[in-house]
Amino acid sequence: MSEEVLKLDMGPIEAVMSLPPSPVFLLAVGEEEPNVTTIGMFNVFSIDPTIVGVGIRTSRHSYKLLEETGDFSLNVPGKNLVDQVVRCGYSSGSRMNKFSETGMTPQPGKRIRSPSIAECPLNMEVRITEVQDRMDWDHIWIVGKVVHTDVIEGYDRTDVLIYWDGEFRTPSPVLREL
Ligand SMILES: Cc1cc2nc3c(=O)[nH]c(=O)nc-3n(C[C@H](O)[C@H](O)[C@H](O)COP(=O)(O)O)c2cc1C
Repeated sequence: MSEEVLKLDMGPIEAVMSLPPSPVFLLAVGEEEPNVTTIGMFNVFSIDPTIVGVGIRTSRHSYKLLEETGDFSLNVPGKNLVDQVVRCGYSSGSRMNKFSETGMTPQPGKRIRSPSIAECPLNMEVRITEVQDRMDWDHIWIVGKVVHTDVIEGYDRTDVLIYWDGEFRTPSPVLREL
């Protein structure tokens, strides 16, 4: 017989915040004055076609730009960009140009109007297809199709940032392969 394990009521918010690590992205959006924001709420809705979504609060400057532009890029930062990720997650593009402030370079989108970020090893260009706006949700889901991707040669998956309940990490070693 297995020993009884004591489990405590954690609370739903604490539970979702402490789920195992998820990717963290730098979302770039906008045509004339593009902005960058840090995004942790991300989901893959379909693999083929490739449909992804991000959860964003309407108070974000980026939300306004998403509505205007109709597309965005999701850029996977390497661990060398951790300071930029924090900066873009704690300051608003309504008051500053986050590209010039963080020293990151906008590179023209190949199939979208928004730029991607040159310093990020993996870039996904997303065209918005739907917006899930439920009045009582605190984040609106912006869903779209990945229409173009760029990756650097020799992309090192173990070098990217992941986010876990207030901590930035890199993925740990593989335990087993399928
Ligand atoms: C690790 C991390 C993850 C975040 N994830 C999200 C997110 O998924 N959705 C969101 O709306 N804000 C998220 N934020 C907060 C925004 O990045 C932050 O409010 C930012 O200043 C908004 O910038 P903007 O006003 O220029 O769009 C996150 C911040 C951090 C540090």
